[in-house]
Amino acid sequence: MAGDGGLIGGGAAPGSDDDDNAWRRRTDWRREQGDEQMPVGQQITEAAERVVGHVSADRLWQRHMDLARFGAREDGGVDRQALSAEEIAARHHLIAIARARGLSVATDPAGNLFFRLAGREPHLPPVLSGSHMDSQPTGGRFDGIFGVLAAMEVLEALRDSGHQPRRSIEAVAWMNEEGSRFAPGMMGSEAFAGVRPLDEIMAVTDADGCSVAEALAQVNAAFPDVPVRELGMPVEAYVEAHIEQGPVLEAQGCAIGAVTGIQGKQTFRVTVTGEEAHAGTKPMAERRDALIAASAMVQRLHGIARAADDALMFTVGRFTVSPNAPSVVPARVVFSIDLRHFDTAVMQRFGDAVAGLCAELAQGCTVQVDRLVDAPSLIFPDSLRRRTRDIAAVLGHAAMDLPSAAGHDARHLNAVAPSAMIFIPCHQGISHHPTERAAPADIHAGARVLAALLVELAG
Ligand code: GLV
Ligand code: MN
Ligand code: MN
Repeated sequence: MAGDGGLIGGGAAPGSDDDDNAWRRRTDWRREQGDEQMPVGQQITEAAERVVGHVSADRLWQRHMDLARFGAREDGGVDRQALSAEEIAARHHLIAIARARGLSVATDPAGNLFFRLAGREPHLPPVLSGSHMDSQPTGGRFDGIFGVLAAMEVLEALRDSGHQPRRSIEAVAWMNEEGSRFAPGMMGSEAFAGVRPLDEIMAVTDADGCSVAEALAQVNAAFPDVPVRELGMPVEAYVEAHIEQGPVLEAQGCAIGAVTGIQGKQTFRVTVTGEEAHAGTKPMAERRDALIAASAMVQRLHGIARAADDALMFTVGRFTVSPNAPSVVPARVVFSIDLRHFDTAVMQRFGDAVAGLCAELAQGCTVQVDRLVDAPSLIFPDSLRRRTRDIAAVLGHAAMDLPSAAGHDARHLNAVAPSAMIFIPCHQGISHHPTERAAPADIHAGARVLAALLVELAG
């Protein structure tokens, strides 16, 4: 797969020979299943063209504005935490829309939410498309939810067109992609793909001590009439539409990005434990101040990352001090590290050094470093990416290939089915911010390309 997709630094993906072989086996399987019958070149199928004609720009924009009410912030952004009351309200809203259009609704033991339009041969593995509906605390109105709403728009356009594909098509909202309330994120897609055990996910707690299992029980109690299906299923293909969250498409004047792959990511939780003491009486030389030690660690790690490589992304986004009282020497600090690079080896080298560097700077405190996520750079199948480009050309939307610097559920789906991502521009690349913006015309373009690709994949 070398050279396939053009990730910066040539990051091998999915990461090992074994993974490569697994990927090849899946694509062979797809060829046996008739993948080569997908149209090639500058045309789309008659059915795809018909469905694309029913994708409604107004309806899709209105759905975004409606969804933004659930968890609306005063500054125009969205704070919709995974499995929260705001998310329950959003789920009610989506389920009502789906039922009004005759789509069947289901959830699974990981709290993923599925909307299904049955195909002519409903026993076949479905084509799946979606993203997530949770947000960062200072989130925008498009990250994640665009992929869910675009997939639902395709199902509505199918209904309006009267076309029933051979395979079923399902829209999905994966549980807790952001990892803001419950860390680390991507829980729903990880559980679905069998990447992480469900019981490990269910035991994770939020800052108030509420576990995923408890929060999910509250969600399920709100939807007694939504059936819970088994976790995981065979999937024909997965396509995720998403805002780019970077500046490239806008700068290049492209409405569509055919995503080549996703950069590698590691996350850590660092726990520094010192000793509580009186701020006025405890001699300075005898203190074990967890804040002083932790801040030295952050500064040192940041400095090394900056010196190492401009493309090495190092972020400490959470820093919690206990007891957090002005006159008490801090006894405990827990901080997060989010580390990314397109070259897995570069990320790995830095990641492997984190624990040692923290230990060197402990200053009498104890320090524990837990690596929570270790995900190499990956490359999506070439055929789906090329088809995305062809479809965009036929539909008259300027398109380009580009890698994703942000993480997405498609990472995990690609382990169980050929997967693709369709990006649309995001104003000035601003994301994970209340002012995040996507243009209605680009949202429409993304949904049109998604519609054609899903209809072709479904046959
Ligand atoms: C996803 O939200 C990410 O942080 O990349
Ligand atoms: Mn997202
Ligand atoms: Mn996000």
